[in-house]
Amino acid sequence: MKKSLPKKHLRSKGWFADDGVHGFIHRGWLKNQGWPADLFDGRPVIGICNTWSELTPCNAHFRDLAEAVKRGVWESGGFPLEFPVMSIGEPLMRPTSMLFRNLVSMDVEESIRANPIDGVVLLMGCDKTTPSLLMGAASCDLPTIGLSGGPMLTGRFRGQKLGSGTGLWRMSDDTRAGRMSREDFLAAESCMNRSKGHCMTMGTASTMACMVEALGMALPGNAAIPAVDAHRTTQAHITGRRVVEMVREDLRMSRILTRKAIENAVRTIAAVGGSTNAVIHLIAIARRIGVPLTLEDWDDLGSRVPCLVNMQPAGEHLMEDFYYAGGLPSVLRELAENGLLHTDAASVSGHLIGQHVTDAPCWNRKVIHTFSNPFKDEAGIAILKGNLAANGAVIKPSAASSHLFKHRGRAVVFEDVEDFNSRIDDENLDIDETCIMVLKNCGPRGYPGMPEVGGMPLPPKILRKGVTDMVRISDARMSGTAFGTVVLHVSPEAAVGGTLALVESGDMISLDVDRRDLTLEVNEATLDERRRAWVPPPTPERGYAKLYVEHALQADSGADFDFLVGGSGAEIPRESH
Ligand code: FES
Repeated sequence: MKKSLPKKHLRSKGWFADDGVHGFIHRGWLKNQGWPADLFDGRPVIGICNTWSELTPCNAHFRDLAEAVKRGVWESGGFPLEFPVMSIGEPLMRPTSMLFRNLVSMDVEESIRANPIDGVVLLMGCDKTTPSLLMGAASCDLPTIGLSGGPMLTGRFRGQKLGSGTGLWRMSDDTRAGRMSREDFLAAESCMNRSKGHCMTMGTASTMACMVEALGMALPGNAAIPAVDAHRTTQAHITGRRVVEMVREDLRMSRILTRKAIENAVRTIAAVGGSTNAVIHLIAIARRIGVPLTLEDWDDLGSRVPCLVNMQPAGEHLMEDFYYAGGLPSVLRELAENGLLHTDAASVSGHLIGQHVTDAPCWNRKVIHTFSNPFKDEAGIAILKGNLAANGAVIKPSAASSHLFKHRGRAVVFEDVEDFNSRIDDENLDIDETCIMVLKNCGPRGYPGMPEVGGMPLPPKILRKGVTDMVRISDARMSGTAFGTVVLHVSPEAAVGGTLALVESGDMISLDVDRRDLTLEVNEATLDERRRAWVPPPTPERGYAKLYVEHALQADSGADFDFLVGGSGAEIPRESH
């Protein structure tokens, strides 16, 4: 028998329980969709926040997923109402989807707060759709549950696995080096993305899906079930059931997103070899809910955690293999058994996170390794500091070349991404494989929006020598599917006058990953002289880009807007009628 509803905390009553003109309007207009009168009897209204869009291919199946969520909501006695928010997909949006992450978070926050919603289901998939929805929902702090859309099936080309992103970057390098024909390159285009779903490498989308599950913000199994597997529909169905229970229990986001949950996520992201983008997004999410999380925490908590998952871009396999091997619960069990998981952290399931993973099986140790036989010894994010990055920079050692961990080289500077694009293929570019490539003005305010251009492709003349990696430094981000000895997120960025802005071609730079050091070998007097001569880049004159440049924080603070940090709860706005 169903528990009676604790109606006192239902926000939706503020809209539907009135017998005057306001209640008439709120109920009456919704009835144009044919809803019977008894649906307004005080049952939980569940908002299904949908990032469906045909322009976001990774989320294009979300209307089907929403229908499965609704089945579960109805079954548990809730009233589901689906609503759209701006959908930001990686493949098509210009100049970069990251420019719009904060905008979507505002859309989500204001849509939830302004409407008669008691609990929320977040439908998330493509990279930025996950952090933006979590950020917006966290600022409202209602009972909220996440549901990822699931990865695509394994890509295959001529008998080989072809991982989204990772395979493309490799083939692009092969084509530029003359090892692959343009015809073969284009033939692979139809073989990479075989099904609905998001990128199936351990890129940013898969990292975000793992993060959501490790945070306890989704039901167990959320991260790895392929988008087209029937179990994904089942996951959506039981997610719908569960969110109604969460409203009854008043299980709000702030009870899930604790410091323990955040620490679990940092270590999990290390154990799966997750994307550097997670650093920025999780810091932004934590700051919305009021949990302190710093760049240093990433190094302290995660940098010594071994990589347990053999997946592209660091390894060989893809999300479908990860799912068949046991998925994230199996990784969380390894962390728990080695004292690296707060097993008493809460979860949207109503159980502690540890209860989900105690008996989690692993079916394939070639994909999910043990602590005693890890895939890579140290996998987490390393945070570099020095005069070139006073507030920090990020490198992912597991995706880098160990022979470059300690390297001193001559800087070859590109002032911005246009400068890079115009000169990188020039056979006369003064560069060799010992040089350090430096890209400026691609940070949060510089581009604006901090695009994924930090994994700069190497010059063709160097690729032809068989060299596959060089040290690269920028204030940009890098695709989670990319790899290499790439120093990212340099803060302060060049566009606000950070030391990065002062680097000149020919300067010497030293990188020492073990000592966490990034130093520009130019004396302070010379830097002062260059600083006085520095001219800030022009800024946008109107529109959202202007708002962004005026309010985006630096990467080490999550690149959120300064006025969005924190939350405002879910207070009902003043009635407008
Ligand atoms: Fe959407 Fe990779 S392009 S997840």
